[in-house]
Amino acid sequence: MTELVHTPAELEASIGHPRTLALVPTMGALHDGHLSLVRAARTTGSPVVVSIFVNPLQFAPGEDLDAYPRTLSADVALLESEGVDAVFAPSVATMYPAGPRTTIHPGPAGMILEGASRPTHFAGVLTVVAKLFALIRATDAFFGEKDYQQLVLIRQMVADLNMPVRVHGCPIVREESGLAMSSRNRYLSADEARTAEILSRALATGSVEKARSLIDASPDVNLDYLALTTPDLREVPEGFRGPARLLVAARVGATRLIDNAAVEI
Ligand code: PAF
Repeated sequence: MTELVHTPAELEASIGHPRTLALVPTMGALHDGHLSLVRAARTTGSPVVVSIFVNPLQFAPGEDLDAYPRTLSADVALLESEGVDAVFAPSVATMYPAGPRTTIHPGPAGMILEGASRPTHFAGVLTVVAKLFALIRATDAFFGEKDYQQLVLIRQMVADLNMPVRVHGCPIVREESGLAMSSRNRYLSADEARTAEILSRALATGSVEKARSLIDASPDVNLDYLALTTPDLREVPEGFRGPARLLVAARVGATRLIDNAAVEI
């Protein structure tokens, strides 16, 4: 039985203080990508808590905070069928009783790629993730590689601030068309979803040049960035051989999409 709780006290009453606890932080509007994180969390054998919180701190003015899909009862039903122990769905006042006051700065890696066009985004993400780790007393936490920069920054925060949490990155789950699953895919019309398939096809070329020419040939895809980095998001040095990451962000219609893939140079 999955319990839906809204405060840390209710969560404690529901699951007590287990020695280990696996957390899957989400903003809800769950899809198969989230469920793959839940399944990975369940392999730990620890109680599994999924948090559902649309975090205002990671949205800039003019972004889609108000429009972001909120589907709590359907989400809880899905999580029940996955055997999740508790769903923690706090209010904004529960998470930020003093308002956004002390926050976590992501450092230089938070200012590139997504951070270049969304300069306050990762401080919002890291602050809420740190609070969720502490409130829920997570020992393991699961994040998708779809938000690759987010995953790198969370690993960095955990290392730099000595947080006692194991961070697990899980592979991107894709539609049959190749489109990376995302709660924001709900904003796409059927035509836009077909157009957006070009992003995963571009990444699959494994080369910035080939990816760019595919995207450039798609007038309905408005490219924000296409970048090749080291796995920890540093610039690829001259003559580098080995694993790297190809990352893309683009607008299709009004929807901003991101995707990425591991590549071998
Ligand atoms: O990836 C997300 O859904 C969010 O950024 C997260 C990690 C739940 C923090 O709000």
